[in-house]
Amino acid sequence: MDKFVIYGQKPLIGEVDISGAKNAVLPMMTAALLANGITIIYKVPDLRDTRTMIRLLEIVGAGVEFNDGTLKIDASTVTNLVAPYDLVKTMRASFYVMGPLLGRFGNVKVSMPGGCAWGPRPVDFHLMGMEKLGADVRLDQGYINASGTSLKGAKIKFKYPSVGATGNVVMAAVLAKGTSVIENAAREPDIVQLCEMLNLMGAKISGLGTMTLSIEGVKELKPTEITVIPDRIEAGTFLIAGAVLGDITLNNVKADHLQSLLDKLEECGASINVEEDKIHILKSNEVRPVNVTTNVFPGFPTDLQAQWIALMCNASGKSIITDTVYHDRFSHVPELNRLGADITLHENVATINGGKTLKGAHVMSTDIRASASLILGGLMAEGKTEVSRIYHIDRGYERIENKFSALGAEIHRESE
Ligand code: UD1
Repeated sequence: MDKFVIYGQKPLIGEVDISGAKNAVLPMMTAALLANGITIIYKVPDLRDTRTMIRLLEIVGAGVEFNDGTLKIDASTVTNLVAPYDLVKTMRASFYVMGPLLGRFGNVKVSMPGGCAWGPRPVDFHLMGMEKLGADVRLDQGYINASGTSLKGAKIKFKYPSVGATGNVVMAAVLAKGTSVIENAAREPDIVQLCEMLNLMGAKISGLGTMTLSIEGVKELKPTEITVIPDRIEAGTFLIAGAVLGDITLNNVKADHLQSLLDKLEECGASINVEEDKIHILKSNEVRPVNVTTNVFPGFPTDLQAQWIALMCNASGKSIITDTVYHDRFSHVPELNRLGADITLHENVATINGGKTLKGAHVMSTDIRASASLILGGLMAEGKTEVSRIYHIDRGYERIENKFSALGAEIHRESE
């Protein structure tokens, strides 16, 4: 297992290129399964999660080539309609194969994802959506079996605008007979891009970026070529580092995907300058405390909650961070307290008494975004921090240590 060794409080100066978005590319990779031919996706980040998804596509029988960020998926050879437990348990997004395989082949067997580091994370909305489209959905020995050779358009209303359920159900509905309407659909940029890709493939989806998606079923989809949008969560992580330590420019970003964060960073005192696909951030001399409540897009993303808490440890007063999307996603809190932070947690609300100087210590990652928060904590702390179990960060960030080193941070990877 690898760990990061960080010597903190080094200024971050220069430019950093943001990679393609993990949460956009994972469903796009499964969308390729809907077409009988070769789909090409550009700017694919080389992450543990994209590698896991490649393995899953190969298991179901697709041919995959991945070179220099270009991914070719040949779905003309798909025969095995099973997503095994071994893969699904390491990455919940494996569940995204359900919609396309059910839609194209009328049958699929996907392992139940099970729990994860932050709560039970159910899949009931995904299953309800498939059932509404006419699929027969059963649980057998830990696997969901869904079958239905003649799916029919339906009205589906989610209790909560789930990203995963919206993507999965859209992918099943594009080949159903008739029109489906999804109400309370997710509006995250990752879902907008998935729908754009499906439309390029011949689907008829309207209402992109709104809470109501209308999908007129078509007979078949054809392969396409598409470039993945920039990763707003990776960009947000670098911007938050920049607010304390930086004078940095992010290349390949979309500011309109990050507006809630940019507003909060300005409230903290950072100077932000947006120019086309670049964002420049200059740290403030004093980070002001700013409360944040996470919400679905365009609200403040839950995937940046952990990093925001790391930033607030450096603020000149008390701040309150509430996560309304995932109520128990706070495993970074006791670890940041090991660095000398003063954070108390009550249910889904963290109270941070800022202004304590963070001091390096040995801390442990527990999930992707908690790892990012601890790396930020280490970069902002005095002295040496060791972050262990960093395999989590490799799931969602491409060469994060190289990107921070190039900006002047002292961070390197060692085996434990
Ligand atoms: C995706 C992202 C994840 C992000 C999350 C919220 C990917 C691969 N992952 O996860 O990084 O943190 O969106 O922005 O894109 N829920 C149910 N039943 C369901 C589905 C969801 O109750 O069937 C609940 C969840 O427990 C949670 C909320 O809905 O409280 C939002 O979850 P959802 O948007 O589905 O998250 P994911 O798609 O799993």
